[in-house]
Amino acid sequence: MSGSGRLRRAHFQEGGGSYAAHRPTYPGEIAKYLASLCFRREQAVDVGCGTGQFSGLLPEYFRAVRATDVSASQIASARPCDRVEYVVEPAERIGLADGSVDLVVAAQAAHWFDLDAFYKEIQRVTRTGSVLALVSYGVPSLPGEVGEVFVEQYNGPLHGFWPQGREHVEQGYAGLDFPFVELEIPPMAIERDWDLGGFLGYFSTWSAVKKAREAGREDLVEGMRRALSQAWGDPAEVQRVTFPINGRVAVL
Ligand SMILES: C[S@@+](CC[C@H](N)C(=O)[O-])C[C@H]1O[C@@H](n2cnc3c(N)ncnc32)[C@H](O)[C@@H]1O
Repeated sequence: MSGSGRLRRAHFQEGGGSYAAHRPTYPGEIAKYLASLCFRREQAVDVGCGTGQFSGLLPEYFRAVRATDVSASQIASARPCDRVEYVVEPAERIGLADGSVDLVVAAQAAHWFDLDAFYKEIQRVTRTGSVLALVSYGVPSLPGEVGEVFVEQYNGPLHGFWPQGREHVEQGYAGLDFPFVELEIPPMAIERDWDLGGFLGYFSTWSAVKKAREAGREDLVEGMRRALSQAWGDPAEVQRVTFPINGRVAVL
């Protein structure tokens, strides 16, 4: 593993509990769409699964689901789910036999991987008619004034603390190396109705927040919290938060 790979993975070595509590899950339609593309539906793998945000959608369509993450903290906090086996394991080394996997999905995670090694591993574990999906959700949008303040703050000084790779999320994975014949993902979005606490909980899971704190810049984190809180008004008020779903999908 390269030095930068180790550093990038370190963002998730702690905080699985907070991730489980505050990160959004995905709409069922994305799993349904991916399953519809698979020739067989015996084995799915969710790599970089975090605490299982995507994994829990897969047992409805696949006989067996392996959900893996390089972070033991994420796996320890993963939500238990029938027919999902959680394993601490890098995406670049999947502990399954050659030609045994029908769907590999990486949700909001592929921009952290060593893509050359990962794609080699994909070629090994999949078979003809299998599907590879790199799913990502972009920067959220919120309505009205709070939405404007969020955009301003997102692009403010805290932005400099996002680790390398964030640009891929912002570009909807369009610039990610993907040497396969691709299919379009139909338009989909994650929608959450969050009060201020819900949104700030999600904000607290950002790697930029963690990095700013480590650099002694709690003031920047606090500044964004304050600006959002002021724009929000009544903390109990619920705002619709929309994350566009993007990604790259191929039938292999
Ligand atoms: C932003 S989180 C996404 C988690 C979850 N899939 C989701 O959609 O919310 C990225 C995850 O990728 C994991 N990760 C990063 N590099 C990895 C690698 N090389 N192999 C496996 N997991 C990795 C991190 O530990 C983290 O849990």
